[in-house]
Amino acid sequence: MFYRSRLRLIRRLNNISKRISDRYIYLVKGPSLVSLRGNGSVLGKDVSNSCTSLRAGKILPFEIDSNSKIHVSLDQLAEIWLTNRLSAGTAIWKKIIRTIFLQQNKKILLVGGTDKGKSTLAVYIINTALKNGYKTAIVDADIGQGDLAPPNAIGAAIVRRQVIDLRDVNAQLFQFVGNTSPMGFEVIVIQSVVNCIKQLCDSFDICIINTDGFVENSGIRYKIKLAKELLPDLIICLGDPSVYHLIKSNCTLMPVIYSRSPEDTIKSRMERIANRVDQYFRFIATDYNNNKVVVVRYDNIMFVYRGTALSGMFDDNGGFLYLGEGKDLRIESEKLVGMFVGLGSDGRVVGFGIILQASSGGIFIQSSIENVDKIFLSNSGLDVDSKSEFKIDY
Ligand SMILES: Nc1ncnc2c1ncn2[C@@H]1O[C@H](COP(=O)(O)OP(=O)(O)OP(=O)(O)O)[C@@H](O)[C@H]1O
Ligand SMILES: [Mg+2]
Repeated sequence: MFYRSRLRLIRRLNNISKRISDRYIYLVKGPSLVSLRGNGSVLGKDVSNSCTSLRAGKILPFEIDSNSKIHVSLDQLAEIWLTNRLSAGTAIWKKIIRTIFLQQNKKILLVGGTDKGKSTLAVYIINTALKNGYKTAIVDADIGQGDLAPPNAIGAAIVRRQVIDLRDVNAQLFQFVGNTSPMGFEVIVIQSVVNCIKQLCDSFDICIINTDGFVENSGIRYKIKLAKELLPDLIICLGDPSVYHLIKSNCTLMPVIYSRSPEDTIKSRMERIANRVDQYFRFIATDYNNNKVVVVRYDNIMFVYRGTALSGMFDDNGGFLYLGEGKDLRIESEKLVGMFVGLGSDGRVVGFGIILQASSGGIFIQSSIENVDKIFLSNSGLDVDSKSEFKIDY
């Protein structure tokens, strides 16, 4: 019944598409497989006569020719609807794109509240830049809902091919922050973004810096601080005009422009949670399936907590572990169980894992990374069985 009504809807949409393609676009929500017969694009990427897979909860605009036909796989949760070109899709960002490429802006900082379209605009800029032959880079500084790295971390890459979703970009660099919100970790996040740009060695024509959606009080103060540190060639503020005014009045030395946000594309709270958990397991799933456990001995290991490096760990055999030579940080051994950690080797973050156990014998981590010389601690725990996240305070 449900399927049949959707089928009828798509048939009806396809039939009327000839008349409406100038004014309307299709929005499709995953999980689904969208096949297109004829010409069309998604965020500047050509998807003509091809099948496009959308992950659960993701909404993408399909901008297709009037004589093209769209078909959406019949997953229970998939949705397709028509919307005015003026409220979603790429037309809302036409002016922004023109500005970027006319001015040849090199470093572009994206700022805006949650669901304002930052990540999607990043994809559109990337695709347009690649189409025009620009060497394109992205730094995803959203440590809560980022796409290039798991929560708690920042990912960066030189992008070599067009994508429809930032998650399709493979990060070449990671920085581990250890928290899913920048509050209290502002300095570490800013330093991490600076490190990423440095490590990309300026080998790009255009670099997009995507940020988290915290824009209330301390969130906006942190964005201003980030902007002043990075000195981008352009700041794009999406969504709420008051965010734009605050950034503009505080970042007077940098060009700041306002951008519209798409309408009717909000992620539900459940979708946000599912997205986050998914993102953790994407970066440790292989290890988990392989059921590999790495044992790290306490000697020759460095721990990093809140940006501070502490060498060695000592077990008092009374349920507590001490980090650092001066026993600088005391942690209940139990609190380490389930902790999501970053793993470092030779000065780079090379992977991620979950602490299974910490005892006098060493620290047991679920991960495939074997030669670890640094463990980055976080405030996030993962329950592998229920695939859920929990907070760790210590
Ligand atoms: N121009 C657009 N046309 C159609 N859908 C869009 C557009 N921009 C964003 N969306 C959809 O709206 C939703 C929110 O967009 P997006 O994730 O890019 O926002 P965000 O600001 O990065 O959010 P967050 O704060 O969670 O990182 C997504 O499902 C996205 O695919
Ligand atoms: Mg985003």
